[in-house]
Amino acid sequence: MQILIADFGSQYTLLIGRMLREIGVRSIILPPQKVSAWLKENRPKGIILSGGAASIYEDDAPNLPDGVLNDDIPILGICYGMHWLAQRLGGRVEPRFAEREYGAAEMILCEPDPLFHGLTDDAKFTVWMSHGDSVTAIPANFKVIGRTAGNTAAAISWPERRVWGLQFHPEVNHTIRGRAILENFLEVCSVKHDWRPDDVITRILQEVAAAVGPDENCILAFSGGVDSSTLTAIVAPVLGSRLTCITLDHGGLRAGEADEVKENALAAGCWYSREPAGRPSFDIFGRWKTFLNAIVAAGTDAEAKRRAFREQYQIDLETLAAEADARVLIQGTLAPDVIESGRVGGAATIKTHHNVGMETWLRQIHPLAGLFKYEVRDLARYLKLPPSITERKPFPGPGFYCRIVGVPVTAELLELVRWADAEVRRITAEEDLEQEFAQLVVGLIGVRTVGVKGDGRSYGYAIAVRAVQTSDFMTCRGYQFPPEVRRSIQRAVTKHPEITRVWFDENDKPPATVEFE
Ligand code: XMP
Repeated sequence: MQILIADFGSQYTLLIGRMLREIGVRSIILPPQKVSAWLKENRPKGIILSGGAASIYEDDAPNLPDGVLNDDIPILGICYGMHWLAQRLGGRVEPRFAEREYGAAEMILCEPDPLFHGLTDDAKFTVWMSHGDSVTAIPANFKVIGRTAGNTAAAISWPERRVWGLQFHPEVNHTIRGRAILENFLEVCSVKHDWRPDDVITRILQEVAAAVGPDENCILAFSGGVDSSTLTAIVAPVLGSRLTCITLDHGGLRAGEADEVKENALAAGCWYSREPAGRPSFDIFGRWKTFLNAIVAAGTDAEAKRRAFREQYQIDLETLAAEADARVLIQGTLAPDVIESGRVGGAATIKTHHNVGMETWLRQIHPLAGLFKYEVRDLARYLKLPPSITERKPFPGPGFYCRIVGVPVTAELLELVRWADAEVRRITAEEDLEQEFAQLVVGLIGVRTVGVKGDGRSYGYAIAVRAVQTSDFMTCRGYQFPPEVRRSIQRAVTKHPEITRVWFDENDKPPATVEFE
């Protein structure tokens, strides 16, 4: 990863990553508390400090360790990121009522600077601001290279150390020439353009070739989601009939999912194994009894359930691999799965992922482990896979097992939440809302509350409905459904005799995660 983006919490942080990728450069976005651990094992070519909603002089304002400044890696601080730099390096940041700017502002260039290379034809241009605080005294060594008509220091630079601060947001489209400014920063960092789909595909194939002997068989854990489908489409032409794609129907799948999975396996280049062979084969194995028993035995603790799921997953994959005479397991694990399973630097374990950390005799390869969801989607589009793959919303490996919260899982509760999920998806599809969010989460909250239905008492569960907006799933924003859609969902879901209420969950990540467990 060439560029590290430290996320101080701005609503625009993901846009920075996206714009860099459009330019052809890969980046990683990390919350400030994960930066130190990551920097111990990685050396980026540049660091971008995002904006954020806090004020730098607040007690609990987001912070970064000093180490970030001690190195000589070029740094670009945006909005709050600029305030952090200014304050840390001896300048002053203040709330200036008169200087608050929200929306478009004109920036006047004060002097030539590598950041504005190629832009000097425009003596001034429109930038997008969103700030209540301003840098009122710049630190020693810095100079002001751009200011607004209201005399705000809009851009500051310390050329010898290669540190810049921008009060405006170059990552939003409303900033004219914002992309050129980011390109100039990348030029200073001497980054290579490393986000070309062909390069990514070549690297994946090299990794597979290195891990799988020429006559060896392998299995691929196929969920039918964008990750495993894209991975299959990449490796299927090379591995041919040595590849067996396996889907475990563990009992926690969505209504109709098995059919969709089969359709995606065929689109990704597999043969259904009960039909003539020759190409990679695919099959779905019904294993819901063993999974249900294992998870029921784990009780209600989220991590115990996840570990039980992973154990059962491993047992089944090992058995099926032995039947296919395979010693290699290919998985579509993504970067967030690895990071959040606590496998990067000193990152905390947020949750055990079913596909990370299995201790098995199978040789495991995770060729997508350096990629984020939006990058895999781009690969899928590049490979011209159908929308059933490219646009497919994620669904967690453990399925509804991790969406029944607070009560032991039973076959009946799985049916209940599966039904509610299908109802909510039906309504959001009818309302044409699917493009509004990246994922829809429907779960069952295992406390019963009192209601009144048809003049009688009801005593039932609550269904929690959550939609999130994100492109990398490391952070997300809770989506707010329009009021009339909330009402339709409530009306539809509470028709079930066991459901009394619907709770809408609009929490961001952080503090929440996308899933409930
Ligand atoms: P969280 O809840 O960790 O979710 O914020 C981030 C994304 O990962 C999905 N997720 C999983 N996917 N196996 C998976 O394949 C898992 O164990 C798992 N847990 C969460 C989640 O649905 C979201 O898209």
